[in-house]
Amino acid sequence: MAFRSVTASPTSPGANAAAAGAHKAPPATLVIFGAHGDLTKRLLMPSLYNLAGGALLDDGFKIIGVDRVPSDDAKWREELTATMQEFTHDKTAEFYVEKVDETNWGWVTQRLSYLQADFTKKEDMARLAQQVQGNAVFYLAVAARFFGDVVEQLGGVGLLKQAEGAFRRVVIEKPYGADLASAKTLNARVLAQADESQIFRIDHFLGKETVQNIMALRFANGIFEPLWKRDHIDYVEITAAETIGVEQRGAFYEPTGALRDMVPNHLFQLLSMVSMEPPNSFDAEAVRNEKAKLLKAIHPVRHEDVVRGQYAAGTVQGHSVAAYRDEPNVAHDSTTETYVALRLVIDNWRWAGVPFYLRTGKSLGGRQTEVVVHFRKPPFALFRDTAVDELTPNVLTLDIQPFEGLTLSISAKHPGPQMILAPVQLRFQYKDAFKLEPNVGYETLIYDCLIGDPTLFQRADMIEASWAVVDPAIKESGEQPELYAAGSAGPAGAEALLARDGHSWAALKAE
Ligand code: BG6
Repeated sequence: MAFRSVTASPTSPGANAAAAGAHKAPPATLVIFGAHGDLTKRLLMPSLYNLAGGALLDDGFKIIGVDRVPSDDAKWREELTATMQEFTHDKTAEFYVEKVDETNWGWVTQRLSYLQADFTKKEDMARLAQQVQGNAVFYLAVAARFFGDVVEQLGGVGLLKQAEGAFRRVVIEKPYGADLASAKTLNARVLAQADESQIFRIDHFLGKETVQNIMALRFANGIFEPLWKRDHIDYVEITAAETIGVEQRGAFYEPTGALRDMVPNHLFQLLSMVSMEPPNSFDAEAVRNEKAKLLKAIHPVRHEDVVRGQYAAGTVQGHSVAAYRDEPNVAHDSTTETYVALRLVIDNWRWAGVPFYLRTGKSLGGRQTEVVVHFRKPPFALFRDTAVDELTPNVLTLDIQPFEGLTLSISAKHPGPQMILAPVQLRFQYKDAFKLEPNVGYETLIYDCLIGDPTLFQRADMIEASWAVVDPAIKESGEQPELYAAGSAGPAGAEALLARDGHSWAALKAE
């Protein structure tokens, strides 16, 4: 992730990357394990297409898709082309274009080849080894239970050995482990095969511009940081509310649940960006050291500070939704949580006594990912002899999605002869200030991996520190979750969690 100042509103496609001084990534072979999987089709291919459009990939770039499914180069290309075309019909998809640009997509497809192989078999991996020379990135877009096996196989056939002028990197998806113990085991297996600097543990939330902007907001502006501490901040909410249910992912979701799926990864990324100390530079290790320090300062969550919920039947955006337990591949007596809320405290000087409330859930009444920073109330004294009987605290909302920007709520004088205050909002919206290029969130991450910048990736110690915080809640997760109606704001217990401290969650906005 390169930091430079540029003027807003570049106008031509690819201009944002060019304006930021991004140069082409070095030539490399990208090997995708799970070539037939959803992630490859829905996100990796559109990202490569966008990177090609931004002229950020070298002509020597190659892509090898590896999967057990019988196929060949031509068939794989055809299938991926058909999926890209489907994106032109669905405006709500993560990737939407009116028309697939043939030059850019052609650039990608020319470089695609397919290897039918079983990554658990040494002879198959040896066949792969024959096809890979020079720089290579191995992308593990496979089910999490295979991460350790694939890395061991790669190591076993010598594919992770770096030589002068040939880097070898591995991108590992989430969930990275299922609790602290399994994350430690996975780290040990992975690090027995490769050096930490070769491992890129990906969290797609960090590919979102609005998430990266948290660092820009805090550290590139002088006005926020002096207030960014316990003296001025009362509490912080972090929300990732979704309107979608588990859809066809029951088999993955049943043993996973909302806590593992979203909290130690996505929500903790937001939490660490918001609460870490300023790094002394934007060097990858400086940033990751500060994040790791912060994660280690979070107190392991207490039983009374966790609320688990599961959606019952209801109505989301006018559509009837079945109960989670009636979804495909879900047990009729499932105790998996589809919602979780936590109250966390950070044991350091900056944040002592400031609660951080986190919540995430599926089939809720609104789709909203945001960080809401509640400042302390000003003293009343000044307004003693006026009609003002209560002052509203300032609230800064960092809107991650679908609204992308930020909102600062302040009090203003209502026009008229009396001193009456009214809340008003100052808003910045990304799309007003910049020309937004199509972005599914993986572009920056793939590019960063190719140029060897790990700033936005998780280090082994960060992963373990995150699991250590939520581990007590995981150990209890066999308990019955509290039911909430699909389309609601979540279980009543989540409101009670904040009410205990005299606080309340920001309302979910229906789309
Ligand atoms: C994924 C989770 O990592 O993130 C999904 O597995 C979740 O369950 C998704 O829906 C949310 O990501 P985004 O970018 O759509 O907010």
